[in-house]
Amino acid sequence: MNVIKVKNKEEMSQLAAKHIIKKVTDAPHSVLGLATGSTPKETYKELVKDYIRNGTDYSLVKTINLDEYVGLSSENKSSYHYFMKKHLFGYLNIKENNRYIPNGETEDLKEVCLQYDQLIEKMVVDLQLLGIGRNGHIGFNEPGTSFNTKTHVVKLAHATRQSNSRFFNSIDEVPTHAITMGISSILKSKEILLLVSGSHKAPAMKHLIENEAIDVQFPASALKKHHHVTIIADCEALSLVSSYVGEN
Ligand code: PGA
Repeated sequence: MNVIKVKNKEEMSQLAAKHIIKKVTDAPHSVLGLATGSTPKETYKELVKDYIRNGTDYSLVKTINLDEYVGLSSENKSSYHYFMKKHLFGYLNIKENNRYIPNGETEDLKEVCLQYDQLIEKMVVDLQLLGIGRNGHIGFNEPGTSFNTKTHVVKLAHATRQSNSRFFNSIDEVPTHAITMGISSILKSKEILLLVSGSHKAPAMKHLIENEAIDVQFPASALKKHHHVTIIADCEALSLVSSYVGEN
């Protein structure tokens, strides 16, 4: 894992956006694996700025998102469908039928998971963007999830619901379940870009960087099995890491 230390979230977002723009410019048919949450928001803002200024073309790009809540309609402002539209899809020229997000709205979630896996088999992700939860989750793969799991319905950990309650009126509104791409699917991506910002992520970063063990109780440790992972983390996120990490 290559760790790049940056000053703050702004620098993290600018560097991540630069990386994505280069990927898409060099390979216009790129498949981008996308994430939601606070972490990638500014990166998406940078992509939108670049699109408006420089017209980077996304017409051949395909995107596939990591996860979605169960039971929220795509019009619900807390759904990840809505998030993606609001922060990215509403601006860039990514074709609507080239964007994939799990459908958490239907009754037959088992079928949704199966279809998502078939899709993942067909679309090899060139660059997967990831965030990390305080408990080390990636996507919504909570601690204890087998690394072999494919797309599945997950019962969200209390810590995750609590943390995500900031996007809802109260914790009671946070769905109890979500659909997430499994860790084995995430590891199939050709390249992974993990973004981490803020002191609240510092214990997770310390665990990830300083602990050599690959352990299902800390899902992000699965990334150690991948040959091409870049972590862009800011000073606050790396504040508990004593070992050397490269500066940007
Ligand atoms: P955050 O979430 O970007 O909102 O901090 C990251 C995650 O939980 O994966």
